[in-house]
Amino acid sequence: MKGLILSGGKGTRLYPLTYTRAKQLIPVANKPVLFRVIETIHDAGVDDIGVVIGSTGPEIREAVGDGSRWGVNITYIDQPNPLGLAHAVKTARDFLGDERFVMFLGDNVIQGGITQLIADFADSDWNCQIVLKEVDNPSAFGVVKLGTDGNVERLVEKPADPPSNLALVGIYMFDHHIHEAVDRIKPSARGELEITDAIQWLVENNYRVFPYVHPGWWIDTGKPIDMLEANSLVLEEFTPHLATDALIENSRIDRRVIVERGARIINSTIHGPTIIGEHTLIENSYIGPFTSIYHHVIVQNCEIERSIVLENSIIRDLDERLYGSLIGRSTTVQRKDEKPRTLTLNIGDHSNLWLI
Ligand code: DAU
Repeated sequence: MKGLILSGGKGTRLYPLTYTRAKQLIPVANKPVLFRVIETIHDAGVDDIGVVIGSTGPEIREAVGDGSRWGVNITYIDQPNPLGLAHAVKTARDFLGDERFVMFLGDNVIQGGITQLIADFADSDWNCQIVLKEVDNPSAFGVVKLGTDGNVERLVEKPADPPSNLALVGIYMFDHHIHEAVDRIKPSARGELEITDAIQWLVENNYRVFPYVHPGWWIDTGKPIDMLEANSLVLEEFTPHLATDALIENSRIDRRVIVERGARIINSTIHGPTIIGEHTLIENSYIGPFTSIYHHVIVQNCEIERSIVLENSIIRDLDERLYGSLIGRSTTVQRKDEKPRTLTLNIGDHSNLWLI
C-alpha cells in the first residue's frame, strides 16, 4: 500500500500566515501539521509516500527532505495548479501505479491515527473506504448521505442544502478503480476536479465504497479558529515533559506542561496543557492553558492564553492578556512607552486585529 499526501493549494483562509509559509507547515502543538500526517501514515505501516506540492513546493521539500527522519521514502509530485483533489490523484498516476493507496489531506489532524483503518482496508475487497464525521456545519465540507442499509447513497461537495451532517474527513483509501473515476468526471462549478465526484462515480458504477464513521475528533486546519482548536485537542493528549537542560527559576509549572530543550522560564506561571518551545524565554509572565509557544520566542511581562506563537517572535510588556491569538513568525508585539502613546501598527495584508 502507498500513501499520498496532498500538500499543494494556496491556504488563503489562513492569510496572512500563509503568504510566507505553506499552510501544512504551520505547527500545531509545536509540530507542523504535515509532519503529524507523515507520522500517522508511517505508524499505520505505510512507508512509500508521495507528497503532492504546488507553489509552496520548495519550502515543503526543504522541511520534509527525503523522509529518512521518519523512516519513510518521500517522492515529490509537482501539481502546477491546484485544480482539485481528483486532479492531484491524476497528477500522481505514475507514482501510484495500480497499487492500493491512502490519500491524506496535508492539513487534516485526526485523533487516534489510521492504523486500524488501513488494516481493515488492506484485508477487504472494498474498492474505496471513506472516513466520515458528524459536524455542525456540513456545508463547509464534502457531505455524504447514507442509505437505510448504511451504504453510501450520495456524495456532494460543499452543498448549500446538505443532505446529512456527515462530513468527508480528508482521509480516503482507494484501489486502482479511482483512476478511471477521476478520468470520467468533469470540473465542478468552482472549477476543480472534486474527489467527492470521483467517489460518487464509483458508487454509481457499483464499486464498493465503505463508509467509516470516525468516533474521535478531527480538525481541518483551514482557518485560524481551527488551528487553535486543533492545538487545544492535540495538547490535551500530550505527555508532560521537562527537558533536562531547561532552566526553571522561581516559577510555577503545571503538571500538563512540556518544556522543550534550552527553554528558560523565569518568575512565571505556566498552566497546562501548554508547550514551551526550544530556546524560548518566558519571563515575568503567565502562559496557558491551551497555548503553544514555538522555538526562539521571547515573552516578557505578558499573559497569553489559548494561543499559538510562532518562532522568533517577541511579545513584551502588554497590559491585556492575549487570548485566542495566532502570532506569526519573527513578529513583535509590545507596549509603546514613549509619548505620544499612540497605537502604532506595522502589519501585513489580510491581518486581523481586535482592540479593546
Ligand atoms: O478537510 C476535508 C475536506 O477537504 C473535505 O470534506 C472536502 O470534501 C474536500 O474537498 C476538502 O475540502 P477543502 O476545501 O478543505 O480542501 P482544500 O482546498 O483546503 O485542500 C485540501 C488539501 O489538499 C490542502 O492541504 C491543499 C491540498 N490540495 C488542494 C487542492 C485543491 C492540493 O494538494 N491540490 C489541489 O489541487
